[in-house]
Amino acid sequence: MANDIIRKLESLVPELTEALGQASSLEELEAARVRFLGRKGLLADLMSGLTALGPDERPAAGKAANQVKAAMTALWEERLQALKDRAQEQVLSVFDPSMPSWAPDLGSLHPVTRVTREICTVFMGLGFEVVSGPEVENDFHNFEALNLPPEHPARDMQDTLYISDSILLRTHTSPLQVRTMLARKPPLGVIAPGKVYRRDSDLTHTPMFHQVEGLLVDRCVTLADLRGTLTAFVRTVFGHDTKVRFRPSFFPFTEPSAEVDISCVICGGKGRLGQEPCRVCKETGWVEILGCGMVDPAVFHKVGYEDGAYTGFAFGLGVERIAMLKYGIGDLRMFFENDLRFLRQFA
Ligand code: PHE
Repeated sequence: MANDIIRKLESLVPELTEALGQASSLEELEAARVRFLGRKGLLADLMSGLTALGPDERPAAGKAANQVKAAMTALWEERLQALKDRAQEQVLSVFDPSMPSWAPDLGSLHPVTRVTREICTVFMGLGFEVVSGPEVENDFHNFEALNLPPEHPARDMQDTLYISDSILLRTHTSPLQVRTMLARKPPLGVIAPGKVYRRDSDLTHTPMFHQVEGLLVDRCVTLADLRGTLTAFVRTVFGHDTKVRFRPSFFPFTEPSAEVDISCVICGGKGRLGQEPCRVCKETGWVEILGCGMVDPAVFHKVGYEDGAYTGFAFGLGVERIAMLKYGIGDLRMFFENDLRFLRQFA
């Protein structure tokens, strides 16, 4: 009985050797392991027969079984290593270390980020300092201190996204004028880039967009300084032949106020593209790019500056608008659709 089992056990070794010799993949090797060494495999099957042996036979048979198991495991591991080595050699034989590596997918800056940075760089070159403030504002900074009385239509639910009666999403970056002046005394020159929010959504308006605010305050700032600064800015961004026009306008926090137009970058100010009317400037040859003016004395008063001591100018421009003109982008919504075919063009 015991001899019979021992013989069968020992015959497993050559059988396994043969099976391993035929296994040429890791899958086949695994199948051989399951068949011979698995929980329900041939070896386990024979070993379960040991329990039927008497106490005098069992030690010798048990010892043989353990030896066979150790030998089989060693054979299997040896074959595994050999297959792994062979796979490694195959990889190495096709691996060419002199080949260029994969180009990493780098991504790119969003056009709004690019243009914001470019705008800031121009003004930093003119001596302005970059500041920032909260997007959730209160009525005082967004409206009241900017000389927008409570009944002003800009506070209407149509335009402003309110969080509570006096807390709102800023509708422009102009609260940074107020925050800057409350925090420091002139001379000061700051620009403030950031997101702004309005209850507006159609082809040419998105409920969130970007502005850059500018403010310069000192003892003798004049309209000529405003003109010179903004003209230098426009010509740096759009080219030195760009014409600049200041058109009288109104903002509650500046007096006098103006809107700045530049000669249309699409048709070169001609209003027509060959025979076709230019749609960007609607045939006028001009496109509006920002609002500006001399800081209203009422605003200086609100922030606690001594009456009559200072003058200054402020301006606010729309980043998407500048980006559209600069890159010839026809549809505002493209900025926010997150379409890689669009975004990759700015890589
Ligand atoms: N805040 C104004 C707007 O959003 C722009 C502006 C800023 C006008 C500063 C004048 C001075 O339309």
